[in-house]
Amino acid sequence: MPSDRDKTLAAFGEKQAASYDDRFAKASAMRDAMHLVTRLALGELSDDARVLCVGAGTGLEIAYLAAAFPRRRFTAVEPAPAMLTLCRQRADREGFADRCEFHEGFLESLPEGEPYDAATCLLVSHFLERPERSEFFAEVARRLQPGATLVNADLASGVGTPRHARLMAVWRRMWLLCDTPVEQVDQMLTEFEKKVPLLPPAEVVELVCSAGFESPTPILQTLLIHGWSFTRSS
Ligand SMILES: C[S@@+](CC[C@H](N)C(=O)[O-])C[C@H]1O[C@@H](n2cnc3c(N)ncnc32)[C@H](O)[C@@H]1O
Repeated sequence: MPSDRDKTLAAFGEKQAASYDDRFAKASAMRDAMHLVTRLALGELSDDARVLCVGAGTGLEIAYLAAAFPRRRFTAVEPAPAMLTLCRQRADREGFADRCEFHEGFLESLPEGEPYDAATCLLVSHFLERPERSEFFAEVARRLQPGATLVNADLASGVGTPRHARLMAVWRRMWLLCDTPVEQVDQMLTEFEKKVPLLPPAEVVELVCSAGFESPTPILQTLLIHGWSFTRSS
């Protein structure tokens, strides 16, 4: 039986990677908002800060942050080879590859090094069940120096509540707006409800704090996407 990690890799294979950047084109304002608040939350770091980007995907957030902060350095951690290939290509194309390190694999396989000044985990950890998610954030905390900033954005919702049902109805309209055929949307959302272990926003905050962070600050909500900044506890 495939492990959760195998399923993650399969979900971000070559076909999915190739369409990843364009799939949400008509809802790109949501992604732009996420990047903007991430940039603002990381605004106080030193000019040459080192940022760990876990689940870097095709490199969208690194490209945005690299343009905003031209002396900062980034480490892209990404287990799906096709996604990381696109991330590297973007870095070459947009001229920030010399400030990037690329690690193909999960975070625990990243070679040990100096602790980072900040981390981003955008749209990554909602794929993980609660115990794996706790381990994931504990590993992020371990790679950061005390006082470092984490920006985390997760899909979050209290499944089974009327509020969740209303939110999913709006989420469905977002997919339709993005020109996804209706049968595909409905099939995808059925799979999503079965497979993605959404937690209510307050439980995400509690889990991240238990893994070694404090000062949770809500910086974003667009539909299911919730974003926070946290400080790595001393
Ligand atoms: C929805 S994409 C988000 C990519 C990017 N952060 C963005 O916002 O566009 C999720 C990415 O996280 C990666 N991923 C999934 N589980 C992970 C894990 N446990 N550790 C690191 N990356 C993971 C996937 O391979 C995928 O590229």
